[in-house]
Amino acid sequence: MELKDKTAVITGGASGIGFATAQRFAASGANIVLGDIEDAPLAAAIARLKDEGANVIGVKTDVANEEDVLALRDAALAEFSAVHVIFNNAGVAAGPTIGTPLKVWDWVMGVNVNGIVNGINAFVPLLLEQNEGHVINTASLAGLGGVPGMGAYCASKFATVGITESLYHEIQLRGANVGVSALCPGFVKTRIFESQRNMPNELISYNESADVQAVNNLGAQAVNAGIDVSIVAEAIEKAVRENQFWILTHFKAAIRTTEQRLEWMKGGAPTTINLEGATKP
Ligand SMILES: NC(=O)c1ccc[n+]([C@@H]2O[C@H](COP(=O)([O-])OP(=O)(O)OC[C@H]3O[C@@H](n4cnc5c(N)ncnc54)[C@H](O)[C@@H]3O)[C@@H](O)[C@H]2O)c1
Repeated sequence: MELKDKTAVITGGASGIGFATAQRFAASGANIVLGDIEDAPLAAAIARLKDEGANVIGVKTDVANEEDVLALRDAALAEFSAVHVIFNNAGVAAGPTIGTPLKVWDWVMGVNVNGIVNGINAFVPLLLEQNEGHVINTASLAGLGGVPGMGAYCASKFATVGITESLYHEIQLRGANVGVSALCPGFVKTRIFESQRNMPNELISYNESADVQAVNNLGAQAVNAGIDVSIVAEAIEKAVRENQFWILTHFKAAIRTTEQRLEWMKGGAPTTINLEGATKP
């Protein structure tokens, strides 16, 4: 599908991968609808896209909240009459497997998994009805293999890969002209390891733990060594144009992880963790 004169809804669109994709889609002639939980970055993102000549609106949205996502859909339809691309991208990172309170797991799963389910429920019926469109769900390399220090995040990203594969097969069975993509990047230079900025107030004290700070510091270093958001945005646009399911911006690490897991399942050695490898395309 070409993006000119189409409408794309992007959650987590105020920064990082979401904002870079909004810029890229807008440059290709798409109308943009941003949904994000952060007020000031959302306003700044809208202003910048307008300066760059985009047709854009933004709606403050907590993707974990079904009503908010339905309101995002209604605003998109009111402004642009149709939606063609839904990019379920908003996400947060937190939570070693050992020592993370259930409320923190619930927050991560609420944003990263329920957020995607809310996006599917709100937008996929529109795409099926018009028999045209594309759904992109943001998973991660952390959805292709377990990573120490990131149990809750990995759980949410494995869930995302499962949901996205199931969605693909359901749409295939219907014979509908709607594409589906699973975005599985390694490290990308964004603020993902500052996710605590959007944590509910009652959970903030959890970040004081030494283990959490160690993971966040390591994660922030890896993210800073990661690829630029524009490379991810380019790969996403290519996947929409060419109707490609897997978006593997860090191809070697994705294949290595998957092959190692297969060998492990067949009785071979456990997978090894290579954070540096996960920073490279
Ligand atoms: N940066 C990486 O290395 C990396 C790697 C793999 C996957 N990802 C995934 O990419 C996606 C985008 O993250 P990013 O790296 O651009 O980080 P980011 O922190 O720069 O952007 C995330 C955006 O999501 C928004 N957000 C957070 N909670 C929200 C909520 N409840 N409702 C709506 N919006 C919310 C934030 O305000 C922010 O604008 C996430 O799903 C993340 O897990 C990132």
